[in-house]
Amino acid sequence: MSHVTVSAPGKLMLLGEHAVVYGYACLVTAVNLRVRVTVAPRDDGKVAIATLDLPEPFAASVDNLHGSSSEAPQAVRFVVSALQQFWRETGALTGADIATASDFTQAYGLGSSSAVTAATIKALAEATGRGHALDASDIFRLGFAAVLDVQGGIGSGFDVAAATYGGTLYYAGRGAEIVPLPGPPPPLVVGYSGIKAPTTRLVQHVAALRARRPEAMDAGMRHVDDLVGEAQAALLDGDYAQLGRIMDTNQAWLDTLGVGTAALDKLITAARRAGAYGAKLSGAGGGDCMIALVNDATRPRVERAIAQAGVPGAEVLRVEMGAPGVQVEPL
Ligand code: PMV
Repeated sequence: MSHVTVSAPGKLMLLGEHAVVYGYACLVTAVNLRVRVTVAPRDDGKVAIATLDLPEPFAASVDNLHGSSSEAPQAVRFVVSALQQFWRETGALTGADIATASDFTQAYGLGSSSAVTAATIKALAEATGRGHALDASDIFRLGFAAVLDVQGGIGSGFDVAAATYGGTLYYAGRGAEIVPLPGPPPPLVVGYSGIKAPTTRLVQHVAALRARRPEAMDAGMRHVDDLVGEAQAALLDGDYAQLGRIMDTNQAWLDTLGVGTAALDKLITAARRAGAYGAKLSGAGGGDCMIALVNDATRPRVERAIAQAGVPGAEVLRVEMGAPGVQVEPL
């Protein structure tokens, strides 16, 4: 087999973060920033993983891939975990040279880890002649397992679904329901808050809240689940005024969890004042990005308001939504 390059998209959470960890629904869209993984098979039982974040490729042998991915350097942990899942599933690995590259920095929180995981599994499948045997649901299943292994069991899998299937998705039941939404993705302005979010810590914070007040938290999450259903209908109808209101309501619940930050708040408020239909944080909170729903007339005003909100390091990210999922790149 010859070498193969596969790419997978990053993602933006539209609605339903945190509740999705507990099996409730969310909406996610894939973005046109991609991670690329090239795999060239070897037959000497060796694995070498090259990434820009390491001065030398990380070297391992197929035989000692059985250990935990946590023994590998941080920069290659998701690739190693993906290799382990592929190896366990297929037994088909005689060695590989692997190289990764990305359109975007991990700092944005746009899902580079889930993208590299899905792309690695697909690239291994193609490079070993098993592309036909592993369909998208297999790549999602193995990718989700790989991500959970690295993250100590934390995560809902919505990001792996976006990397695998692309487009805009309704995602629920920790992957039991993955429904592609037809029609154009929502017109959004994306603002980076200048700070990398500590996702694991925030998920643990919400878990602690839920342990203290299970009924109230579950009621809140059921409400978010309803909002996701209403948002799906509004999106399909192109009713952006309604979708914007739903985004604001979802943000109010996220505020009660205490996952917002002063920087995110400033950007959200600035976007609303500049005429956005609605605005909210996107992802775990604690940093990363916010999104604002706009139209052609309000887009430039909202972009300017975010850039001039006085948040150090904040920037408007020019990304397109609804990008295709994991795919083989032409040679
Ligand atoms: O911080 P991100 O973009 O990886 O999003 C986290 C979303 C959570 O619901 C908080 C966690 C998850 O895995 O769904």
